[in-house]
Amino acid sequence: MRLAVFASGGGSNFQAILDAIADRDLDAEAVLLVTDRHEAGAIRRASAAGVPHVVIKPADFDSTEAFGHALVTALEEHGADFVALAGYLRHVPANVVAAFKHRMLNIHPALLPAFGGKGLFGMLVHRAVIEYGVRWTGATVHLVDEEYDTGPVVLQQPVRVRQDDTPETLAARVLEVEHELYVEALRLFAEDRVRIEGRRTVIGEG
Ligand code: GRF
Repeated sequence: MRLAVFASGGGSNFQAILDAIADRDLDAEAVLLVTDRHEAGAIRRASAAGVPHVVIKPADFDSTEAFGHALVTALEEHGADFVALAGYLRHVPANVVAAFKHRMLNIHPALLPAFGGKGLFGMLVHRAVIEYGVRWTGATVHLVDEEYDTGPVVLQQPVRVRQDDTPETLAARVLEVEHELYVEALRLFAEDRVRIEGRRTVIGEG
């Protein structure tokens, strides 16, 4: 697996993936970090691991299609054959989704289809979970399609919501789960164990 990771923020999920590769828990090579922000913390993590990065901002392009084309070109130039979105806050253009159909994952910090969709990202998700009063939240790894957070689910892991949780304390516990779940999901793809049947994914024996 020649993996490209897209990240807009601190990149702790990206770090978990880099660590799993270094520890040989994941049979993959991180070939590129794609970000939309020069100040993304993920860039430092990439540099420390010797992974090249590119900053590609939608505002620099006339159209979504041109933005997508630049993303696909960067992925091709680095020979990426799989993409992991890890805290990437941009909508992925349709031409990128098409080029990496069934080869692009995202992680969402809730149990989809609850608390997902456009506008629900990062701390806003955890705030919405607490305000709604649900007892359980969690993390979801899913394939990326043209919409936000709607692609077929690959793995989910629940996390209990505590009475005294703040969005920050809840985010911290969910993030710990995310780090393990994302590596586990990527391993399934690296080992070619995932079959996609419409909306459903079927995981085969290793
Ligand atoms: C994670 O909670 C991820 O699920 C969400 O954004 C956050 C990114 O965290 N999409 P990090 O940048 O990986 O630390």
